[in-house]
Amino acid sequence: MAPSSDRDGAPLHVAIIMDGNGRWATERGWPRLAGHREGAKRVKEIVSACPELGVDYLTIYAFSTENWKRSTAEILGLMSLFRRYISREADRMSAEGVRMRFIGDRTPLDPKLQRLMGWIESRTADNTRTNLTVAINYGGRNEITRAARRLAGAVARGEMDPEDITQEAISAALDTGRLPDPDLVVRTSGETRVSNFLLWQAAYAEFEFTPIMWPDFRPADLAEVLDRFALRERRFGAAAQ
Ligand code: FPP
Repeated sequence: MAPSSDRDGAPLHVAIIMDGNGRWATERGWPRLAGHREGAKRVKEIVSACPELGVDYLTIYAFSTENWKRSTAEILGLMSLFRRYISREADRMSAEGVRMRFIGDRTPLDPKLQRLMGWIESRTADNTRTNLTVAINYGGRNEITRAARRLAGAVARGEMDPEDITQEAISAALDTGRLPDPDLVVRTSGETRVSNFLLWQAAYAEFEFTPIMWPDFRPADLAEVLDRFALRERRFGAAAQ
């Protein structure tokens, strides 16, 4: 499918750092996992709103390579949320034309979760309306390192010359190899860090930071962020007009 946009000036690809679940729950005297559970509901709503907002590609940061430092209970809770999301949302995603993919290093994940990830990727592979990519055990540096190893292996086996390692070859070797670069990276909760997300791919992305905690972030809030994006002049390094 050729990418299309229903909304003038909408970014083709939006990437979101869904931050603030823990604080949202703690402020209410609830366990952190309650924030993640509420956050999963926002994921569902934002994904469903993408066609109307003119967003063809949505990439969300669900679990970073650094998140293993959290408590075992929180990690297990998050992994269980991911499994449940895949099983429970499969039919809705099919009905809404959502193609689901994952980026990140899957090898240390629970085999059951890995199987579900592979299953939903195959099941939704022919869907073309919204491209949802979920980053699980993802870190930009880790991704670049794995890609560099793969390319170095190809050179060592004589399948590639060092000169073949171009920017395009590196982009293609990343987990996001088949995705366009993000036009816009959004981070919720008032934090203004990039936190190892899409380091290579976001080279020319615009950034938007909102104080809203992820469990409170609704499609109307994303629409507002997209309105601000539409007013920006993107120059990709060229001189201002
Ligand atoms: C960051 O907030 C959020 C995460 C590490 C987890 C994101 C996961 C979800 C939204 C759950 C659902 C996802 C899917 C794909 C079903 P934080 O916990 O670091 O918040 P804090 O900074 O307030 O502690």
